[in-house]
Amino acid sequence: MFPPVYVADIAEHEGQEVTLHGWLHHRASKGKLHFLKLRDGTGVVQCVVFKGNVTPEVFFEADHLPQETSITVRGLVKRDERSPLGFELDVRDLAVVARPSQEYPLGHKEHGVAFLMEQRHLWLRSQRQTVVLKVRASVIKAIRDFLDGRGFTLVDAPIFTPAACEGTSNLFEVPYFDLGKAYLTQSGQLYMEAAAMALGKVYCFGPTFRAEKSKTRRHLTEFWMVEPEVAFMDLAGDMELMEQFVSSVVQTVVEKHRAELVTVLERDVSKLENVKPPFPRITYTEAVEVLRRAGHPMTWGDDIGGDEETVLASAYDRPVMVHRYPVEMKAFYFKRDPADDKVALGCDVLAPEGYGEIIGGGQREEDLGKLEAAIAQHQLPKEAFEWYLDLRRYGTVPHAGFGMGVERCVAWICGLHHVRETIPFARMMERITP
Ligand code: 4AD
Ligand code: MG
Repeated sequence: MFPPVYVADIAEHEGQEVTLHGWLHHRASKGKLHFLKLRDGTGVVQCVVFKGNVTPEVFFEADHLPQETSITVRGLVKRDERSPLGFELDVRDLAVVARPSQEYPLGHKEHGVAFLMEQRHLWLRSQRQTVVLKVRASVIKAIRDFLDGRGFTLVDAPIFTPAACEGTSNLFEVPYFDLGKAYLTQSGQLYMEAAAMALGKVYCFGPTFRAEKSKTRRHLTEFWMVEPEVAFMDLAGDMELMEQFVSSVVQTVVEKHRAELVTVLERDVSKLENVKPPFPRITYTEAVEVLRRAGHPMTWGDDIGGDEETVLASAYDRPVMVHRYPVEMKAFYFKRDPADDKVALGCDVLAPEGYGEIIGGGQREEDLGKLEAAIAQHQLPKEAFEWYLDLRRYGTVPHAGFGMGVERCVAWICGLHHVRETIPFARMMERITP
């Protein structure tokens, strides 16, 4: 049985007899011919069962198998110009591995998303979902390749943390032995700052938790975030890194998955091909003006929400970088702009076509006194941050970094309305199963 032949490699076996393993995706019949669509995770191939080529038992079986029967099929690989794959299998034998014990709940008809999410463990078998998962895997690989190729060191951040990093309103609490409460990490950033002072250029990449009480199409309670952090880097350098990073990831993934994006997900990839540096840059203050002109009642200091992000981004054919936000809107660790004390040296990258914020980041406060003041102002427990303040006590340097949520990036590349389809098993306010 090993090594098996996979559908994706079938071209290498033209004219040969091979054995394929997989699941019956679809079945049709025409006189002396049965057409079985077999999927094996690498692709789908049409298997043609001609009455004259198999035993009467196999011919009968081939006309009675339910969807999702696991099967082994032996046959001859034949070129076929009409097939999307270019090949089909001329069946000589077929064996059932396991017949479904009841009817497959996700037959070939339309289902609502609520039902599909309930059946997520089975929904993953659909062609669309397998493509999304493959794109996700490629996004993750492209992220790693970009950073590894530039001399970044992967440093894993802890998941149990003693304090908040991104505000106290969306923390998940966990009982933690005699030490009281721990929190699931909201961001590995503070640990990456420590690591950057040791290794220069670092990143963490792992699950991140936010007890978001928002049921939007962009929010999960558990998502994956990559967070690079660089010593001796300012906001301008950080923004250059962001645009090179995003362009590299998008171009690598589009190159690799062009055919599936176009045919299976019906994505207009020409929109993604524009994603090249330089990205347009506007300040928060300019963004407020743009939104006002577009008829949004905004005053300086208001949050730029999902709807506003869509309006802003729609003016550009590639991601737009919004920088220098009001200090009050941002986390405690941001450095203030020396040229304007009211704004923080932060930057968000907003994806086009309404996909919203995919990156948040910026330059960190490196001054001990100012950081202590910010911690006090945000009413954070100083004891929990003593180790973080040490980074400012021993050879502090300007430094910057950012975080990108994998799911928002995948939703954008795949053209999916909701992030729930971009992660294998979504965790949201109202969903923890399957
Ligand atoms: O803007 P955020 O909150 O930034 C940080 O956590 C920084 N500490 C990152 C850093 O500078 N190292 O989150 C960063 C990104 C967002 O732009 C978004 O892509 C994603 O993480 N994100 C979410 N994705 C899905 N569901 C949620 N609830 C998300 N919250 C943030
Ligand atoms: Mg943000």
